[in-house]
Amino acid sequence: MVTTSTVPFPDVSPSPRVEGFLSRTKKLLIGGRWVDAAGGKAFPVYNPATGQIIDMAAEGDVADIDHAVRAARKVFDNPRHPWRTMSPSERGRLIWRIGDLILEHKDELAELESLDNGKPVEVAKAADVPLSADLFHYMAGWATKLEGNTIPISVLYAPGAQFHAFTTREPIGVVGQIIPWNFPLLMAAWKLGPLLATGNCAILKPAEQTPLTALRLGEILQEAGLPEGVVNIVTGYGETAGAALAAHEGVDKVAFTGSTELGRLIVKAAAGNLKKVTRELGGKSPNIIFKDTPDLQQAIAGAASAIFFNHGQCCCAGSRLYVEKAVYEDVVQGITAAARDIKLGPGLAAGTQMGPLVSQEQLDRVTGFMDAGRREGACVLTGGGRVGERGYFVAPTLLTGTGPQMSVVKEEIFGPVVVADSFEDTTEIIARSNDTPYGLAAGVWTRDIAKAHRVAEELRAGTVWVNCYNIVDSALPFGGYKQSGWGREMGHEVLSQYTHTKAVCIGL
Ligand code: NAI
Ligand code: MG
Repeated sequence: MVTTSTVPFPDVSPSPRVEGFLSRTKKLLIGGRWVDAAGGKAFPVYNPATGQIIDMAAEGDVADIDHAVRAARKVFDNPRHPWRTMSPSERGRLIWRIGDLILEHKDELAELESLDNGKPVEVAKAADVPLSADLFHYMAGWATKLEGNTIPISVLYAPGAQFHAFTTREPIGVVGQIIPWNFPLLMAAWKLGPLLATGNCAILKPAEQTPLTALRLGEILQEAGLPEGVVNIVTGYGETAGAALAAHEGVDKVAFTGSTELGRLIVKAAAGNLKKVTRELGGKSPNIIFKDTPDLQQAIAGAASAIFFNHGQCCCAGSRLYVEKAVYEDVVQGITAAARDIKLGPGLAAGTQMGPLVSQEQLDRVTGFMDAGRREGACVLTGGGRVGERGYFVAPTLLTGTGPQMSVVKEEIFGPVVVADSFEDTTEIIARSNDTPYGLAAGVWTRDIAKAHRVAEELRAGTVWVNCYNIVDSALPFGGYKQSGWGREMGHEVLSQYTHTKAVCIGL
């Protein structure tokens, strides 16, 4: 069934506070000052619920990236700069303040995020914004805990000699951070939190689809008292500003979140000065429901939310659903019903459970996959197309009758589209789950604890959720196996990706 509707969704006006932010001219934050793009150009920011332009953002390009890198280098390369000499305790308190200020501006940030990205404002209020604040609060505590070791060494070729050897942790330097549009503020927090805790400097390049909350965050960083030039924010297109940042010789590391395809380009761009690269990329995550799941209704709700949360625009979305044969029909029916119950609407409208996709490009891409699935012989149990003629809405979609070679089974769709299939054998389903170049996340639903452990161990994924899905936490490392990434975000694991370990050896 293809769902279409000609009834337009209501227009919802933003609050005066957000209108006020939108009315201000958007600039780039470089060296502590808000400046125009060198080329004087600006690019449109769209409301995905209507397709209308709501703002213009400064179009940073090669010259602006270069300007921002120089501003960051000026801070980092000066050992007497207040950022370089700031005590860990003071740095921690500053980062904590950023978290507090985010919470203070929670409603405004949530509304801005909803308007720019399309997600329901209530979701932004319950998840994106508090999680962003929590990330800064969590990272604030690490600023004082970046310890090295003292290491007893033997030095076989210097018999009798005495040494005192120890390690210290030092910031890597100037880091380019390129982030996507699916959780714009949260991705900025995931990147900036550990960067600040470890004393680095940043050039943040938000996604061109969603630059607004990053710009508001820039104001918050200033209000928190972050020294000038520590974090520079350059809005602009990926192909120009993003590419210039990834390739810049003055950048020591690039941290990227986005598509796997682009992850490859970033590695190539980084090859010039062999800058460090961490990447959090795409996924095609399996979600396996065994017939002995503790509560079938809970598993159904969990599997629906695994794919439909954030309109499926999650790198860890549970987009391949595998259900043990005995409960397959129940699960498929349950998810169909859940999908049909989801209330679509503009993110700012009260009661909206799913907003539009982020852009025309994503609308074309996701509906293209839906059409390809149909062409390749998949059965569309619910959804399967665009909703309405304005904005970028699509219906939550469940496909069955798919085969392993179909594009909808192999490729990351990044929309609310799940493919479901049944299985009978645990070993076989583990193999099928792992039969993908991706390895970001996976779900397992069973009350058999031994089976849960075995499957969790054998799945080649950076996160495995058992009897739950989409559980992320500032303290829990997140990242991918295989082509889903290099390195980890969050937890204390991420700190090693923003620090060098220096070994110091003193002859006594
Ligand atoms: P993208 O990967 O192109 O964009 C992510 C970021 O990279 C943005 O800030 C963009 O400006 C920047 N960028 C683009 N081209 C660049 C370049 N040549 N050099 C440096 N930076 C560059 O994602 P896009 O095109 O918006 O979405 C395409 C697909 O990517 C989606 O359908 C989805 O499958 C996947 N994706 C995955 C994400 C994830 O979290 N794993 C997030 C966003 C998209
Ligand atoms: Mg792109």
